[in-house]
Amino acid sequence: MLSRFRVVEVGPPIEVFAVNEQYLKDTFDQKVNLSVGAYRTDEGKPWVLPVVRKTEKQLADDEALNHEYLPVLGLQACSSAATRMLLGAESRALLEGLAFGVQTLSGTGALRVGAEFLHRQLKYTTFYYSSPTWENHHLVFTNAGFAEPRQYRYWNSETRSLDLDGFLEDLRAAPKDSVIILHACAHNPTGCDPTSEQWTQIADVIEEKQLFPFFDSAYQGFASGDLEKDAWAVRYFADRGFEFVCAQSFAKNFGLYNERVGNLTVVVNNAVHLQPMKSQLTLIVRGMYSNPPNHGGRIVATVLNNPQLFEEWKESVRTMAKRILDMRKGLKERLEKLGTPGTWDHIVTQIGMFSYTGLSPQQVKHLTEKYHIYLLKSGRINMCGLTTKNIDYVAKAIHETVLDVPGDSINKI
Ligand code: LMR
Repeated sequence: MLSRFRVVEVGPPIEVFAVNEQYLKDTFDQKVNLSVGAYRTDEGKPWVLPVVRKTEKQLADDEALNHEYLPVLGLQACSSAATRMLLGAESRALLEGLAFGVQTLSGTGALRVGAEFLHRQLKYTTFYYSSPTWENHHLVFTNAGFAEPRQYRYWNSETRSLDLDGFLEDLRAAPKDSVIILHACAHNPTGCDPTSEQWTQIADVIEEKQLFPFFDSAYQGFASGDLEKDAWAVRYFADRGFEFVCAQSFAKNFGLYNERVGNLTVVVNNAVHLQPMKSQLTLIVRGMYSNPPNHGGRIVATVLNNPQLFEEWKESVRTMAKRILDMRKGLKERLEKLGTPGTWDHIVTQIGMFSYTGLSPQQVKHLTEKYHIYLLKSGRINMCGLTTKNIDYVAKAIHETVLDVPGDSINKI
């Protein structure tokens, strides 16, 4: 009998996980993984934050806790603390009761729940994402029913900086009610964020053209080590009275990658809409996964709501941000010392987990095949994959690669 599944074709691989797999299979002892965006210690190991470990032990010993279902919109203690962390305790939207949170399956789940809501309830169909962006934005929004994916210009490969004119021009041409995905900080993959002056101009156009801002905040604290600074853009939009949503992830800043804890913050300009919105969000979540898991949400809630644990966590966030800054400086210095052709300032001016090196796909291939260094085709490297032990090796490999494979590069060296 012929199988009904014969119509199913193999889909394209997910690059970031495929490259990570390749790295894991490689037996070369000097191999380096600069692919998937996950923090590593200077020993190249994943890091369970001490405050997370401590909280987990405390939760495991707490006889008052059980495994009952969470509410459909998640643990209130988690979502309210996450919303406060994003908007700031003094936020006008919070003080006036115009904001709330929904605990989600990490940042991706928040994007999906938010997109489903905007598509089903407001009938929005067009979304814009930066060129380039995190490769999953497209899939999440189209799976949520958005039929019109579009890109706005973001990266100028000549100047290795923001293409503000292109960005604003594309926003001006966007149809009313287009959803604009904005990286709150530490833009993935370029590591290049608008300045506050540039955010002002972006906000002006979004307001004027009646577009809808959808922030993606996956790196609060990670970019600068400072939670407040990394939330500047989101808070600016809130202070200006915009209605918007923001997907928050606690994968990176809590190191809770596989616990899938996130939050969808919703900001409105009239509290009368909150109850209907919450009831519709409840139905969306109920129809997708019924209710979120407890463990990660409980950790985040415990830490964010306890002043002492909160301080300990902020210290760990600073440790991670600082190690990344040290690696940026170290890589730039080494490339300059080696006399590697090109300029390398962008490695220190970009912020967050990633650097958009400017290496071409051919150079990336060479780095992987000859030196066993794994990175994305776009030239994006995870700065956390660099350590004091492998940074000389990586710098030398980049140096030799740039000389051996001159770039007919899309991101020109
Ligand atoms: C990344 O960009 O490498 C991470 O955010 C992992 C992912 O899910 O793509």
